[in-house]
Amino acid sequence: MTEELRYDGRVVIVTGAGGGLGRQHALMFGARGARVVVNDLGGGQTGGGGSSAAADKVVEEIRAAGGEAVANHDSVTDGARVVATALDAFGTVDVVVNNAGILRDVSFHKMTDQDWELLQDIHLNGTCAVTRAAWPVLREKGYGRIVMTTSAAGIYGNFGQANYAAAKLGIVGLANALAEEGRAKNIHVNTIAPIAASRMTETVFPKELLDRLRPEAISPLVGWLAHEACAETKGLFEVGAGYIAKLRWERSHGHRFGGTTDFTPDDVARHWAGITDFTDAEHPTTMNESLTAVQRTA
Ligand SMILES: NC(=O)c1ccc[n+]([C@@H]2O[C@H](COP(=O)([O-])OP(=O)(O)OC[C@H]3O[C@@H](n4cnc5c(N)ncnc54)[C@H](O)[C@@H]3O)[C@@H](O)[C@H]2O)c1
Repeated sequence: MTEELRYDGRVVIVTGAGGGLGRQHALMFGARGARVVVNDLGGGQTGGGGSSAAADKVVEEIRAAGGEAVANHDSVTDGARVVATALDAFGTVDVVVNNAGILRDVSFHKMTDQDWELLQDIHLNGTCAVTRAAWPVLREKGYGRIVMTTSAAGIYGNFGQANYAAAKLGIVGLANALAEEGRAKNIHVNTIAPIAASRMTETVFPKELLDRLRPEAISPLVGWLAHEACAETKGLFEVGAGYIAKLRWERSHGHRFGGTTDFTPDDVARHWAGITDFTDAEHPTTMNESLTAVQRTA
Protein backbone atom coordinates (compact mmCIF):
# COMPACT_ATOMS: atom_id res chain seq x y z
CA MET A 1 0.00 0.00 0.00
CA THR A 2 1.41 3.40 -0.97
CA GLU A 3 1.42 6.39 1.34
CA GLU A 4 -1.70 8.59 1.36
CA LEU A 5 -1.54 11.57 -1.01
CA ARG A 6 -1.69 14.67 1.19
CA TYR A 7 -2.24 18.39 0.60
CA ASP A 8 -0.68 19.75 3.81
CA GLY A 9 0.26 23.38 3.32
CA ARG A 10 -1.80 23.63 0.14
CA VAL A 11 -4.72 26.03 -0.28
CA VAL A 12 -7.52 24.62 -2.40
CA ILE A 13 -10.52 26.50 -3.81
CA VAL A 14 -13.50 24.34 -4.77
CA THR A 15 -16.31 26.24 -6.47
CA GLY A 16 -19.90 25.12 -6.12
CA ALA A 17 -18.83 23.06 -3.11
CA GLY A 18 -22.01 23.48 -1.08
CA GLY A 19 -23.48 20.28 -2.52
CA GLY A 20 -23.13 17.53 -5.09
CA LEU A 21 -19.68 16.73 -6.47
CA GLY A 22 -18.03 19.91 -5.18
CA ARG A 23 -18.93 19.04 -1.59
CA GLN A 24 -17.24 15.64 -1.98
CA HIS A 25 -14.12 17.25 -3.45
CA ALA A 26 -13.97 19.75 -0.57
CA LEU A 27 -14.42 17.04 2.08
CA MET A 28 -11.67 14.95 0.48
CA PHE A 29 -9.19 17.85 0.38
CA GLY A 30 -10.11 18.85 3.94
CA ALA A 31 -9.55 15.30 5.21
CA ARG A 32 -6.10 15.20 3.57
CA GLY A 33 -4.62 18.32 5.11
CA ALA A 34 -5.52 21.08 2.64
CA ARG A 35 -6.88 24.43 3.73
CA VAL A 36 -10.09 24.65 1.74
CA VAL A 37 -12.17 27.54 0.42
CA VAL A 38 -15.71 26.22 0.08
CA ASN A 39 -17.38 28.46 -2.50
CA ASP A 40 -21.11 28.27 -3.11
CA LEU A 41 -23.77 30.91 -3.49
CA GLY A 42 -26.37 28.36 -2.49
CA GLY A 43 -28.54 29.02 -5.50
CA GLY A 44 -31.24 26.93 -7.08
CA GLN A 45 -30.44 24.36 -9.73
CA THR A 46 -31.38 26.73 -12.56
CA GLY A 47 -29.45 29.68 -11.18
CA GLY A 48 -31.97 31.57 -9.02
CA GLY A 49 -31.93 32.27 -5.28
CA GLY A 50 -28.97 32.47 -2.94
CA SER A 51 -28.28 31.32 0.60
CA SER A 52 -25.06 31.00 2.55
CA ALA A 53 -26.21 27.83 4.32
CA ALA A 54 -24.84 25.33 1.78
CA ALA A 55 -21.19 26.42 1.92
CA ASP A 56 -21.30 27.02 5.69
CA LYS A 57 -22.53 23.50 6.31
CA VAL A 58 -19.66 21.95 4.33
CA VAL A 59 -17.15 24.14 6.19
CA GLU A 60 -18.64 22.83 9.45
CA GLU A 61 -18.31 19.26 8.20
CA ILE A 62 -14.64 19.76 7.30
CA ARG A 63 -13.90 21.41 10.66
CA ALA A 64 -15.79 18.71 12.56
CA ALA A 65 -13.51 16.15 10.92
CA GLY A 66 -10.45 18.11 12.09
CA GLY A 67 -9.80 20.00 8.84
CA GLU A 68 -9.41 23.67 7.96
CA ALA A 69 -11.89 25.52 5.76
CA VAL A 70 -13.59 28.85 5.14
CA ALA A 71 -16.74 29.65 3.22
CA ASN A 72 -17.17 32.02 0.31
CA HIS A 73 -20.68 32.88 -0.86
CA ASP A 74 -19.95 34.87 -4.02
CA SER A 75 -20.91 33.78 -7.49
CA VAL A 76 -18.02 32.36 -9.49
CA THR A 77 -18.64 35.23 -11.89
CA ASP A 78 -17.08 37.38 -9.13
CA GLY A 79 -13.93 35.30 -9.37
CA ALA A 80 -11.70 37.92 -7.75
CA ARG A 81 -13.82 37.81 -4.58
CA VAL A 82 -13.63 34.01 -4.44
CA VAL A 83 -9.84 34.11 -4.70
CA ALA A 84 -9.66 37.06 -2.26
CA THR A 85 -11.24 34.80 0.38
CA ALA A 86 -8.36 32.33 -0.07
CA LEU A 87 -5.75 35.09 0.10
CA ASP A 88 -7.34 36.77 3.13
CA ALA A 89 -7.83 33.54 5.09
CA PHE A 90 -4.76 31.53 4.07
CA GLY A 91 -2.41 33.93 2.26
CA THR A 92 -2.18 32.05 -1.05
CA VAL A 93 -3.81 29.59 -3.42
CA ASP A 94 -2.36 26.40 -4.93
CA VAL A 95 -5.30 24.50 -6.40
CA VAL A 96 -8.47 25.64 -8.13
CA VAL A 97 -11.25 23.15 -8.78
CA ASN A 98 -13.80 24.81 -11.07
CA ASN A 99 -16.96 22.85 -10.41
CA ALA A 100 -19.88 25.25 -9.91
CA GLY A 101 -22.67 24.98 -12.41
CA ILE A 102 -26.34 25.04 -13.26
CA LEU A 103 -28.61 23.69 -15.96
CA ARG A 104 -31.34 25.26 -18.08
CA ASP A 105 -32.23 22.45 -20.44
CA VAL A 106 -34.40 23.55 -23.33
CA SER A 107 -34.44 22.69 -27.02
CA PHE A 108 -32.60 25.22 -29.19
CA HIS A 109 -35.71 26.53 -30.93
CA LYS A 110 -37.28 27.40 -27.55
CA MET A 111 -34.11 28.72 -25.88
CA THR A 112 -34.25 32.35 -24.68
CA ASP A 113 -31.33 34.78 -24.71
CA GLN A 114 -31.27 34.48 -20.92
CA ASP A 115 -31.06 30.66 -21.07
CA TRP A 116 -28.00 31.05 -23.28
CA GLU A 117 -26.31 33.93 -21.50
CA LEU A 118 -26.75 32.63 -17.97
CA LEU A 119 -25.15 29.30 -18.86
CA GLN A 120 -22.17 30.96 -20.58
CA ASP A 121 -21.88 33.31 -17.64
CA ILE A 122 -21.79 30.78 -14.83
CA HIS A 123 -19.92 27.92 -16.52
CA LEU A 124 -17.50 29.55 -18.97
CA ASN A 125 -17.17 33.11 -17.65
CA GLY A 126 -17.28 31.91 -14.04
CA THR A 127 -14.54 29.33 -14.65
CA CYS A 128 -12.48 32.00 -16.40
CA ALA A 129 -13.09 34.60 -13.68
CA VAL A 130 -11.95 32.40 -10.78
CA THR A 131 -9.01 30.98 -12.72
CA ARG A 132 -7.90 34.42 -13.94
CA ALA A 133 -7.93 35.81 -10.40
CA ALA A 134 -5.79 32.90 -9.17
CA TRP A 135 -3.46 32.84 -12.20
CA PRO A 136 -1.00 35.62 -11.18
CA VAL A 137 -0.58 33.99 -7.74
CA LEU A 138 0.14 30.60 -9.32
CA ARG A 139 2.53 32.10 -11.87
CA GLU A 140 4.36 34.04 -9.18
CA LYS A 141 4.90 30.95 -7.01
CA GLY A 142 5.66 28.68 -9.99
CA TYR A 143 3.12 26.11 -8.91
CA GLY A 144 -0.53 25.43 -9.57
CA ARG A 145 -3.05 22.69 -10.19
CA ILE A 146 -6.33 23.53 -11.92
CA VAL A 147 -9.15 21.08 -12.49
CA MET A 148 -11.95 22.10 -14.83
CA THR A 149 -15.36 20.43 -15.04
CA THR A 150 -16.87 19.77 -18.45
CA SER A 151 -19.60 17.34 -19.48
CA ALA A 152 -20.29 14.54 -21.93
CA ALA A 153 -23.12 16.81 -23.11
CA GLY A 154 -20.48 19.18 -24.49
CA ILE A 155 -18.04 16.54 -25.74
CA TYR A 156 -20.63 14.46 -27.57
CA GLY A 157 -23.63 16.80 -27.89
CA ASN A 158 -27.00 16.21 -26.28
CA PHE A 159 -30.55 17.15 -27.18
CA GLY A 160 -31.87 20.14 -25.24
CA GLN A 161 -28.47 21.23 -23.94
CA ALA A 162 -27.09 23.61 -26.57
CA ASN A 163 -26.44 26.34 -24.00
CA TYR A 164 -24.80 23.94 -21.52
CA ALA A 165 -22.86 22.00 -24.18
CA ALA A 166 -21.37 25.16 -25.69
CA ALA A 167 -20.31 26.52 -22.31
CA LYS A 168 -18.88 23.17 -21.22
CA LEU A 169 -16.80 22.68 -24.36
CA GLY A 170 -15.68 26.29 -24.09
CA ILE A 171 -14.17 25.26 -20.76
CA VAL A 172 -12.15 22.52 -22.52
CA GLY A 173 -10.79 25.12 -24.95
CA LEU A 174 -9.86 27.36 -22.04
CA ALA A 175 -8.16 24.45 -20.28
CA ASN A 176 -6.17 23.47 -23.38
CA ALA A 177 -4.83 27.00 -23.85
CA LEU A 178 -4.05 27.47 -20.15
CA ALA A 179 -2.24 24.12 -20.04
CA GLU A 180 0.14 25.51 -22.69
CA GLU A 181 0.49 28.91 -20.98
CA GLY A 182 0.98 27.30 -17.56
CA ARG A 183 3.48 24.64 -18.64
CA ALA A 184 6.66 26.62 -17.96
CA LYS A 185 5.37 27.72 -14.55
CA ASN A 186 4.48 24.23 -13.30
CA ILE A 187 0.77 25.04 -13.55
CA HIS A 188 -1.11 21.93 -14.70
CA VAL A 189 -4.60 22.20 -16.11
CA ASN A 190 -6.83 19.15 -16.57
CA THR A 191 -10.51 18.62 -17.22
CA ILE A 192 -12.98 16.03 -15.99
CA ALA A 193 -16.32 15.01 -17.49
CA PRO A 194 -18.10 13.42 -14.52
CA ILE A 195 -21.21 11.29 -14.32
CA ALA A 196 -22.72 11.10 -10.83
CA ALA A 197 -25.93 11.31 -8.91
CA SER A 198 -26.70 14.86 -7.79
CA ARG A 199 -29.67 17.17 -7.92
CA MET A 200 -28.45 18.02 -11.43
CA THR A 201 -28.96 14.45 -12.68
CA GLU A 202 -31.74 13.15 -10.41
CA THR A 203 -34.36 13.82 -13.07
CA VAL A 204 -32.13 12.61 -15.94
CA PHE A 205 -31.17 9.06 -14.88
CA PRO A 206 -33.34 6.24 -13.51
CA LYS A 207 -33.21 5.64 -9.72
CA GLU A 208 -31.44 2.23 -9.99
CA LEU A 209 -28.62 3.85 -11.94
CA LEU A 210 -28.43 6.92 -9.66
CA ASP A 211 -27.92 4.63 -6.65
CA ARG A 212 -24.74 3.35 -8.30
CA LEU A 213 -23.44 6.76 -9.47
CA ARG A 214 -22.11 7.99 -6.17
CA PRO A 215 -20.60 11.53 -6.19
CA GLU A 216 -17.74 10.23 -4.01
CA ALA A 217 -16.50 8.31 -7.08
CA ILE A 218 -15.46 11.55 -8.82
CA SER A 219 -13.23 13.09 -6.14
CA PRO A 220 -10.31 10.58 -6.26
CA LEU A 221 -9.49 11.65 -9.84
CA VAL A 222 -9.75 15.32 -8.86
CA GLY A 223 -7.47 14.61 -5.91
CA TRP A 224 -4.80 12.98 -8.07
CA LEU A 225 -4.92 15.69 -10.77
CA ALA A 226 -4.61 18.34 -8.04
CA HIS A 227 -1.58 16.70 -6.41
CA GLU A 228 1.98 17.94 -6.81
CA ALA A 229 3.12 14.41 -7.75
CA CYS A 230 0.81 14.34 -10.80
CA ALA A 231 2.63 15.30 -14.02
CA GLU A 232 -0.50 15.17 -16.17
CA THR A 233 -1.57 18.38 -17.91
CA LYS A 234 -3.99 19.18 -20.75
CA GLY A 235 -5.79 15.90 -20.04
CA LEU A 236 -9.48 15.23 -20.49
CA PHE A 237 -11.05 12.41 -18.50
CA GLU A 238 -14.40 10.69 -18.22
CA VAL A 239 -15.13 9.58 -14.69
CA GLY A 240 -18.02 7.96 -12.84
CA ALA A 241 -19.07 4.95 -10.77
CA GLY A 242 -15.47 3.80 -10.36
CA TYR A 243 -14.57 4.17 -14.04
CA ILE A 244 -11.83 6.58 -15.19
CA ALA A 245 -10.63 6.94 -18.79
CA LYS A 246 -8.69 9.48 -20.83
CA LEU A 247 -9.96 11.06 -24.03
CA ARG A 248 -7.94 12.42 -26.97
CA TRP A 249 -8.52 13.81 -30.42
CA GLU A 250 -8.32 11.40 -33.31
CA ARG A 251 -7.70 12.62 -36.87
CA SER A 252 -8.17 10.42 -39.90
CA HIS A 253 -5.07 9.87 -42.02
CA GLY A 254 -6.84 12.05 -44.56
CA HIS A 255 -6.64 12.45 -48.29
CA ARG A 256 -4.08 14.66 -50.00
CA PHE A 257 -5.12 16.51 -53.12
CA GLY A 258 -1.52 17.67 -53.21
CA GLY A 259 -1.12 21.35 -52.43
CA THR A 260 -3.22 22.24 -55.43
CA THR A 261 -6.20 24.58 -55.54
CA ASP A 262 -7.74 23.06 -58.65
CA PHE A 263 -9.89 20.43 -57.00
CA THR A 264 -13.62 20.72 -56.79
CA PRO A 265 -16.54 19.73 -54.54
CA ASP A 266 -16.93 16.74 -56.89
CA ASP A 267 -13.38 15.61 -56.08
CA VAL A 268 -14.11 15.97 -52.36
CA ALA A 269 -17.26 13.86 -52.77
CA ARG A 270 -15.31 11.23 -54.72
CA HIS A 271 -12.69 10.92 -51.97
CA TRP A 272 -15.11 11.21 -49.04
CA ALA A 273 -14.67 7.59 -47.92
CA GLY A 274 -10.89 8.10 -47.70
CA ILE A 275 -11.16 11.49 -45.96
CA THR A 276 -13.37 9.98 -43.24
CA ASP A 277 -11.53 6.63 -42.93
CA PHE A 278 -9.87 6.26 -39.52
CA THR A 279 -7.45 3.52 -40.57
CA ASP A 280 -3.93 4.77 -39.66
CA ALA A 281 -5.47 7.63 -37.66
CA GLU A 282 -3.25 10.22 -35.99
CA HIS A 283 -3.57 11.77 -32.53
CA PRO A 284 -2.21 15.31 -32.60
CA THR A 285 -1.86 16.93 -29.18
CA THR A 286 -0.56 20.39 -30.05
CA MET A 287 -1.11 23.10 -32.67
CA ASN A 288 2.30 22.27 -34.12
CA GLU A 289 1.51 18.58 -34.45
CA SER A 290 -1.80 19.54 -36.01
CA LEU A 291 -0.10 21.77 -38.57
CA THR A 292 2.35 19.10 -39.76
CA ALA A 293 -0.30 17.44 -41.94
CA VAL A 294 -1.00 20.64 -43.82
CA GLN A 295 2.72 21.45 -43.98
CA ARG A 296 3.41 17.99 -45.49
CA THR A 297 0.82 18.70 -48.17
CA ALA A 298 1.52 22.34 -48.98
N1 LIG B 1 -23.63 15.19 -11.92
C1 LIG B 1 -23.27 14.86 -13.14
O1 LIG B 1 -23.51 13.72 -13.63
C2 LIG B 1 -22.54 15.83 -14.00
C3 LIG B 1 -22.31 15.49 -15.35
C4 LIG B 1 -21.56 16.33 -16.14
C5 LIG B 1 -21.06 17.51 -15.60
N2 LIG B 1 -21.35 17.83 -14.29
C6 LIG B 1 -20.80 19.08 -13.78
O2 LIG B 1 -20.27 18.87 -12.48
C7 LIG B 1 -20.36 20.09 -11.72
C8 LIG B 1 -21.04 19.80 -10.40
O3 LIG B 1 -22.38 19.40 -10.64
P1 LIG B 1 -23.28 18.63 -9.59
O4 LIG B 1 -23.83 17.45 -10.31
O5 LIG B 1 -22.57 18.43 -8.32
O6 LIG B 1 -24.49 19.68 -9.43
P2 LIG B 1 -25.09 20.40 -8.14
O7 LIG B 1 -26.23 21.23 -8.63
O8 LIG B 1 -25.36 19.39 -7.06
O9 LIG B 1 -23.89 21.30 -7.62
C9 LIG B 1 -23.53 22.50 -8.24
C10 LIG B 1 -23.23 23.52 -7.16
O10 LIG B 1 -22.80 24.73 -7.79
C11 LIG B 1 -23.37 25.81 -7.08
N3 LIG B 1 -23.44 26.98 -7.94
C12 LIG B 1 -24.27 27.20 -8.97
N4 LIG B 1 -24.04 28.40 -9.52
C13 LIG B 1 -23.01 28.95 -8.83
C14 LIG B 1 -22.33 30.19 -8.91
N5 LIG B 1 -22.65 31.10 -9.84
N6 LIG B 1 -21.33 30.43 -8.04
C15 LIG B 1 -21.01 29.53 -7.08
N7 LIG B 1 -21.65 28.35 -6.93
C16 LIG B 1 -22.64 28.07 -7.81
C17 LIG B 1 -24.73 25.32 -6.66
O11 LIG B 1 -25.27 26.08 -5.57
C18 LIG B 1 -24.46 23.86 -6.31
O12 LIG B 1 -24.16 23.68 -4.93
C19 LIG B 1 -21.12 21.07 -12.62
O13 LIG B 1 -20.19 21.90 -13.29
C20 LIG B 1 -21.82 20.18 -13.62
O14 LIG B 1 -22.11 20.86 -14.82
C21 LIG B 1 -22.06 17.02 -13.48
